[in-house]
Amino acid sequence: MTASMTCKVAAHGQAGPGIFILELKAAALVSAAGPGQFVHLKTADGIDPLWRRPFSIHRVNRRRGTILLSYRRIGRGTSLLARRTAGDTIDLLGPLGRPFDLEGGFTTAVIAAGGLGAAPVPFLLDALRRKGRKAVVLWGVRSKTELYCLDALRGRYTSIHIATEDGTEGFRGRVTDLFGRLASEFASGSGFRGFACGPMPMLKALQPLAAASGFPWQASLEERMACGVGVCQGCVVRMKNRQYRTVCADGPVFDLAELDFHD
Ligand SMILES: Cc1cc2nc3c(=O)[nH]c(=O)nc-3n(C[C@H](O)[C@H](O)[C@H](O)COP(=O)(O)OP(=O)(O)OC[C@H]3O[C@@H](n4cnc5c(N)ncnc54)[C@H](O)[C@@H]3O)c2cc1C
Ligand code: FES
Repeated sequence: MTASMTCKVAAHGQAGPGIFILELKAAALVSAAGPGQFVHLKTADGIDPLWRRPFSIHRVNRRRGTILLSYRRIGRGTSLLARRTAGDTIDLLGPLGRPFDLEGGFTTAVIAAGGLGAAPVPFLLDALRRKGRKAVVLWGVRSKTELYCLDALRGRYTSIHIATEDGTEGFRGRVTDLFGRLASEFASGSGFRGFACGPMPMLKALQPLAAASGFPWQASLEERMACGVGVCQGCVVRMKNRQYRTVCADGPVFDLAELDFHD
């Protein structure tokens, strides 16, 4: 159930260039949240900035009763957030949105993540492992310094493939190129389910490759948001059937094949 709450910062630190991991005391969310869901944070006290900022749940720590978020400092809200220290309080609304669908018959998750789009992947992997499912993670970043959460990805039943645009680690190129290179490994189609998270251009480039893969793909979208709860219609995306859906309430997870990435 979605709730508004004031959470204490349990820990906060830098994990890469301009990349931070924020741990919040939020025991109520630990069992309520699912992978792919997000929280909407007030990044400062008072009314400036007015709108909350959305962040995927990166991981939950059941023992500590905390949720972890990972974010890149890119503008005013995230710059203010980056100043918060342990013991500060933050106003949070969540968990919001539809989580990834992990039900049904598949044995191996194929996860394609671009940049900070990897934020929800550790939480997704934890849920997959609890269900005894295997995972192949393909993560593309600009340079190896941005591989901020590799340790959180490693674990039972999981293999990881890295792509860097500058060639400093793994395959040289984008994550979609890497998927194209590895596609024959998934050629049988059966037993696989795809999960994609990253910026819109990456998801757009992945869509035809995913369609050719022969197995279904879910994609987690990022759009600028205001209310975060389906009221303002500020975050709509168009579907192939010409209907519009809100990313905050109908998503952020959608069937990748149904999205209309018009130019
Ligand atoms: C469901 C969801 C989950 C998200 N999860 C994460 C996460 O886990 N980690 C993370 O770092 N970011 C995540 N984001 C993006 C994050 O919300 C934005 O980076 C943040 O709101 C920027 O706030 P700001 O005030 O610092 O930037 P602003 O000052 O508002 O904007 C700075 C620049 O960033 C661009 N921008 C802002 N928001 C977005 C966006 N949503 N998509 C694309 N460009 C944007 C603006 O156009 C502008 O150029 C998520 C977004 C959504 C919708
Ligand atoms: S942000 Fe208001 S409807 Fe999605």
